[in-house]
Amino acid sequence: MRILKECFDHNRAWAAAQTARDPGFFDKLQGAQRPDLLWIGCSDSRLPPNEIIGRLPGEVFVHRNVANVVVHTDVNCLSVLQFAVDVLQVKHVVVCGHYGCGGVRAALEHRPLGLIDNWLRHIKDIGAKYRDELIAIDDRTARADRLCELNVRQQVANVCHTTIVQDAWRRGQPLSVHGWIFSLADGLLRDLGLCVEAPEQLPALYRMDAI
Ligand code: CO
Repeated sequence: MRILKECFDHNRAWAAAQTARDPGFFDKLQGAQRPDLLWIGCSDSRLPPNEIIGRLPGEVFVHRNVANVVVHTDVNCLSVLQFAVDVLQVKHVVVCGHYGCGGVRAALEHRPLGLIDNWLRHIKDIGAKYRDELIAIDDRTARADRLCELNVRQQVANVCHTTIVQDAWRRGQPLSVHGWIFSLADGLLRDLGLCVEAPEQLPALYRMDAI
C-alpha cells in the first residue's frame, strides 16, 4: 500500500518540521483547542480550509459535507455548531461554498447518482426558489455558479435560524455568521457580504423572541 507509506512518511516529516519551527508546538496542541472560527464547507478535496486561510492546527473548527448544506434537522451539523458556539465560544461561523461545486451542478441536472440525490434535493429546493433568476442566465456554468452563491446565502440563513445561534445572541454572546465563496480558478475567497450579527437582521418569521 504505497499511498499509505507516503502518508506516514510525510506525517513524520511534517511533525519534525513543526517541532523545528516551534519546539512547544505539540505541548500547546495537547492543551485545550481555542479556535475562534467554525468553518462549514464543502467536502470537495480542493478546498482544505486551514491551508486556504493560513490557519494552524487548533485554529479552525470544521464541518464539511457535500455542497456545504446546513439542514435544520441534521444532528451531525447541529452538534458541531452547538459545540462550537456553546463550548468553544467561537466568534465567527463561516459558510464557505465554491464555484464549480459538483454537488450544486448535480442539483441542476437530472442524472441519478444514488443516495446523494436525496441530500442534493435541498439545493434543488433553492433552485426552485430562485427559478426565475436562474433560468434568465443562459450560460450553464454561470447559472450553476449563481446557484453556488444562492446556496451559501441560504445556508447562512439556516445557521442563523437555529436555536443555537439565536440563544447565543440572546445571551449577549458575540457571534457573526458569514458567507464566503472560493474560486478554484484563482484560489481566492470572496466575501458575499452576508454577515449576520444580530437577530434584528433576520426575517420576523424566523426570529425567536426573548423569553
Ligand atoms: Co462542492
